[in-house]
Amino acid sequence: MINEVKRIIKETNLQHIAFIMDGNGRWAKKRGLSRHFGHKAGCERIYEIIIHLRDLEVPYFSLYAFSTENWNRPKSELKFLFTYLKTFFKRHIKDLIRDEIRVVVSGDYTKLPQDTVMVIDDAITATKHLSKFCFNICLNYGGKQELVRASKLIAIAYKNNELNLDELDINTFNNYYNIAIIM
Ligand code: IPE
Ligand code: MG
Repeated sequence: MINEVKRIIKETNLQHIAFIMDGNGRWAKKRGLSRHFGHKAGCERIYEIIIHLRDLEVPYFSLYAFSTENWNRPKSELKFLFTYLKTFFKRHIKDLIRDEIRVVVSGDYTKLPQDTVMVIDDAITATKHLSKFCFNICLNYGGKQELVRASKLIAIAYKNNELNLDELDINTFNNYYNIAIIM
């Protein structure tokens, strides 16, 4: 099975795998536990997934962990979730460096609680020179926000005469969008 997966990855030259974190609550409920145990268990599996993907030689991994819509969750649930994310980075910062994993974040993670932001910043800074594998964690991400950011970049480029509106098509839009998602 694993060799088959490796073969497909090689043949398709697969560069990027994305996971959406979901089902944490259902996982816990099924076991008679409260939702936050599901978030804890979910966060505790992240490193394992990173290592598997790195070993499969897929260079980029995006983990959709917390969307702008997720702010609608109860405050206590958010608190647990951010605490587990913080624990993940704190616990694994040395592993990330040792295993040559670069951490990048998509989304405005600076709106998360300050202590969580601080450990994420530490992980970004400590790994920014590494290139074996890129772990992109999506935090406070939202499709609409990304479109707004891309539109602003396009407006700036237009204003600076760097973009002719007749040239704006799906491909050129994509160039701006690709910048917007990592802003
Ligand atoms: C994913 O699990 C965690 C986040 C997206 C923050 P859920 O919390 O969505 O779990 P379910 O879907 O309710 O089981
Ligand atoms: Mg869900």
